[in-house]
Amino acid sequence: MNEFTKLAERAGREAGAFLKIKFNGKLTIEKKGQIDLVTDADRGAEKIINDIILSEYPDHKILAEEGGETSNESNYLWLVDPLDGTTNFAHGLPFYCVSIALMKDNELLSACIYNPNLDECFVAEKEAGAYLNGEQISVSKTDLINDSLLATGFPYDIRISESDNIAQFKAFAKTAQAVRRPGSAALDLAYTACGRLDGFWEFKLSPWDIAAGILMVLEAGGKVTSYDGTDVDIKSGEVLASNGLIHDEMLKVLQTTL
Ligand code: IPD
Ligand code: CA
Ligand code: CA
Repeated sequence: MNEFTKLAERAGREAGAFLKIKFNGKLTIEKKGQIDLVTDADRGAEKIINDIILSEYPDHKILAEEGGETSNESNYLWLVDPLDGTTNFAHGLPFYCVSIALMKDNELLSACIYNPNLDECFVAEKEAGAYLNGEQISVSKTDLINDSLLATGFPYDIRISESDNIAQFKAFAKTAQAVRRPGSAALDLAYTACGRLDGFWEFKLSPWDIAAGILMVLEAGGKVTSYDGTDVDIKSGEVLASNGLIHDEMLKVLQTTL
């Protein structure tokens, strides 16, 4: 692993250790929207990550969920979700993670998704593979949606928008073996990368939710596109990720709902 990837892992693990302590302690919880939460744990973890990145690479740019974008210009951009799965976290449901990715000139280079609760550290590096706690991972071999376990999530504007993922959920629930809504897009993608899930779709996501997970799935041999099969655009927030084998079938199911 190169220095960037090692740094992503160090920042992920340190922020994750902080989150694990906060998970068992007292939390300050605020609402960012009607149902969108933020806690002091989100903000504390983000500071840990930003400090680690900037101490090594003070010129690099950071886009982090809570603090936004740093004002400097750089070819290097770190995408930071300090706590993916905040709703789970705030309710005491131990399914959450830290997600960190590095891009250079819009190309994903390094990624770390760390789940402190299970001490599972997913790391990926461009053209060097994807790993879970040091062991190389690869996507599943399931080749039919009928036999697939899929995951998704619903947007925070679900109460006020018609574009709510309900039609897609219904279509996949009736074609897949089962569909889950675990509550962390980054872990859903990491789980697709290591074969625990066969596919994942979601939209209205933010770049920090999906950047690390996209590289993880690609480096594990999977496929990631937008809903129409074209190249995934991190800024669009729309992702279809799979083991590759069920990708066309998933695209067809999505087409029936659009
Ligand atoms: C959320 C989670 C969730 C997804 C939401 C995301 P957050 O991120 O990834 O699974 O459905 O759309 O915003 O708010 O917990 O960082
Ligand atoms: Ca998130
Ligand atoms: Ca978050």
